[in-house]
Amino acid sequence: MSTIDTLDQSSDTLPFNHTLMNDVAIQDRDRLKNLPHKNELGEYESKSVQRTLDNSYVPESILEARLVQDRIIRERFEGKALRIADIGCGDGYHGEVFAPDCVSYHGFEISSEMAEKTRQRWQESGLNNTEVTHGDASKIELKPNSYDVAWSLYFTSGNFREEFDDISKYNDAYLDQNPAFIGIVSNFYRALRFGGRLFLTVYKDRPETEEAQRTFYKKTGQTVVTPKGSRFVATKENFWSVRWTEESMLSNLAACGIQPEQVKFNDLNDISWLVEVTKV
Ligand SMILES: C[S@@+](CC[C@H](N)C(=O)[O-])C[C@H]1O[C@@H](n2cnc3c(N)ncnc32)[C@H](O)[C@@H]1O
Repeated sequence: MSTIDTLDQSSDTLPFNHTLMNDVAIQDRDRLKNLPHKNELGEYESKSVQRTLDNSYVPESILEARLVQDRIIRERFEGKALRIADIGCGDGYHGEVFAPDCVSYHGFEISSEMAEKTRQRWQESGLNNTEVTHGDASKIELKPNSYDVAWSLYFTSGNFREEFDDISKYNDAYLDQNPAFIGIVSNFYRALRFGGRLFLTVYKDRPETEEAQRTFYKKTGQTVVTPKGSRFVATKENFWSVRWTEESMLSNLAACGIQPEQVKFNDLNDISWLVEVTKV
């Protein structure tokens, strides 16, 4: 595994004028008031899809990737006074770990049920430097230069897509220039300070990864609807998770204005990378 150096933010963190919010519900409502928000990706309202967050259902290779991801980000960022954006924050686990040391920790979550779980978890933990924004991460207005780190962990960015009933529309051309992924990554890339980092945990496009995904989703009680050999796995429960090649990632990142020299593919294990983008 490649060694990932530490983001040194002592010299170049920008000033941050942020009001600490206790009542995240008010903040959520105000920020989204005028946005054309529609909760299109409601799959995390399903109990079987929520089980994918529970390690007891996770196959060994995916669990290994998750644990290595967490070890790496803890080694690099725990104990640092950073402004972190968590794209697709799920049940808020990472905020609980990092927020106590952060200047601010902001979660963005499209599922109302997951946003509520995060909100409760962070309130119960007494965190007063956190915010949860409920909505589609591509549509949320963000201030430029407002984050040191933005991350989308545990294969979340592989879920970003427009909803089509006809899954044949997720063809190679779509996956190499995925408008939903590009919208979200562009939004958060703009919001990073110069020298800031974006992290995406993603699946490598390998047969053993697909096998692990199919086993995983079946184990959580979902019905897989994609034939073997597809570049993504979709389920009847509306779950959708794509795998990546270096080329497909670079092609999508190029559409966000990110050049290959800015991108590192850090191996987590045989089936996954922690993709790291430095803002220049
Ligand atoms: C695989 S889960 C990961 C949760 C968490 N980051 C973790 O590491 O456990 C993906 C989460 O991203 C959310 N999500 C998917 N698409 C999103 C979007 N367009 N905007 C905001 N959140 C999104 C889902 O609702 C889900 O809670």
